[in-house]
Amino acid sequence: MNKVKEFFDERADNWNDYQTETLNDLKGLLALIPLKKGMRVLDLACGTGIISELLQEVTESKVTAIDISDNMIKNAMKNHNSVDIDFKVANFYEYEDEPFDAIVCFNAYPHFLDVDGFVNKAHSLLKKEGYLVILHSMGRVCLDNHHAAFAANVSRHLKSPKDEYVLYKDKFIMEKEIDTDNKYLMVLKKAEN
Ligand SMILES: C[S@@+](CC[C@H](N)C(=O)[O-])C[C@H]1O[C@@H](n2cnc3c(N)ncnc32)[C@H](O)[C@@H]1O
Repeated sequence: MNKVKEFFDERADNWNDYQTETLNDLKGLLALIPLKKGMRVLDLACGTGIISELLQEVTESKVTAIDISDNMIKNAMKNHNSVDIDFKVANFYEYEDEPFDAIVCFNAYPHFLDVDGFVNKAHSLLKKEGYLVILHSMGRVCLDNHHAAFAANVSRHLKSPKDEYVLYKDKFIMEKEIDTDNKYLMVLKKAEN
């Protein structure tokens, strides 16, 4: 059994109880990223679907939302019954689909332990000049402390956007970065193949 999947399966039923602070400023956070009406977006590692509806509202288009945890997707489907959100259980590393205009990975990136695999899969699932967005509703010091305390063997240390970008530079151009006490953002545009 995949240890990341097992970890989140066990937490899925209580997941939303811990999200109250995050929910306060979701719209403000999503306003930082280059989403437009008509975009085809993947909500990557969607959990219980915390941002899925907002992505649908902004793009006014169907959103695909995937998560490796069956229990997260079960709760996502229970909480959000919009026909414009296609929730699916899927492991991103193995996921195949038509290309997206944007992949949004919210509050989940450090749980992808194989970063090279993550970069390659994101690149293959994006249209030309499509965006990979890595977004967190807390700063990385806080995030690292949180992971060290609660999720040490299912997360990796998050470096500054500039240092993370070293892993992306052959395939993406970094268009925007934020690295503050309460936010973390990398907006990466797919470079030519
Ligand atoms: C910290 S939770 C965040 C969930 C959601 N984005 C939110 O903000 O509530 C991280 C999520 O990443 C998912 N995840 C981890 N590895 C994954 C993978 N390889 N493919 C798809 N989902 C994955 C987990 O199952 C978990 O739901």
